[in-house]
Amino acid sequence: MPQLNFQPDDVSVEAQAGESLLQAAVRAGIPHSQVCGGYGRCSTCRVLVQSGLEHCSPAEEAERAIAARLQFAPEIRLACLTRIGGPATVRRLVIDEEDRAITSLIGRESTMGAAGLHREVAILFADIRGFTAFSEQHSPYDVIHVLNRYFHMVNPIVEAHGGAINNYMGDGFMALFGLKDPRDLALRAVRAGWEVLEAARRHHVYVRNLYNSGFRIGVGVHVGTVVVGAVGAKSNQRLTAIGDAVNFAARIEAENKPAGTEFLVSQACYERVKDAVTPGKTVQVAIRGKTGLHPLYEVKGLVG
Ligand code: FES
Repeated sequence: MPQLNFQPDDVSVEAQAGESLLQAAVRAGIPHSQVCGGYGRCSTCRVLVQSGLEHCSPAEEAERAIAARLQFAPEIRLACLTRIGGPATVRRLVIDEEDRAITSLIGRESTMGAAGLHREVAILFADIRGFTAFSEQHSPYDVIHVLNRYFHMVNPIVEAHGGAINNYMGDGFMALFGLKDPRDLALRAVRAGWEVLEAARRHHVYVRNLYNSGFRIGVGVHVGTVVVGAVGAKSNQRLTAIGDAVNFAARIEAENKPAGTEFLVSQACYERVKDAVTPGKTVQVAIRGKTGLHPLYEVKGLVG
């Protein structure tokens, strides 16, 4: 019978014919999470298969549905629906009551919830120039109204290009492209960025007429691999991205100010979109933690 090792308990057990990983764990006295009782509904029995994935039974329909909903990587399996035919080592991913509260699908209404995976995305940052000064000179109502009107214009643009705004940071936002559809993610992000810039120019006319103030933004786009997952408490979870690529995208956006530009993209992005944009100047920047200078490319318009 194949040996099954459970981590972090470091308990080994001989798997019996036809039993699931969960049944083997329970038989070995391991306190394995199983909120739904092993019926493939809660996802709390999830394990990371560290070795022996090839010995695991193929995912059944119920497991495939949960894996798709939570965007599980292939090596994350539901212990209650997985059987093994050879040696394997698995790590329990739901350890205590707090883990169960975060992960259980029972009673959860949200359909969002990537468990965490590496994904190549295009990251768009946009920030309003000098909005702190505007907020100090105008009433709180006007400040929020001007912001909301701008975001109201921007959100449909991002969504029309298959992106999603994942984070609002004061007067700025971050949008990700490629979470659902990886095709042309850089181009879609750049097109959205350009349309956001055009929307901000229209908004500028409104703000100038009503408040005698300007409204300018800077946009930065980078393409890179990030960790994507749902974070936050259950009631306000949101999908977000973590990684160097995110920090770099924010840095690119910030570089617009010293460069005197409105829209800059990284080389990784530019390589993919250069036939579709009108380029402007090239800016060389130093990046913390990396040697040498790195080029950023100004986008002056879209071709066609
Ligand atoms: S125990 Fe609930 S899904 Fe496996």
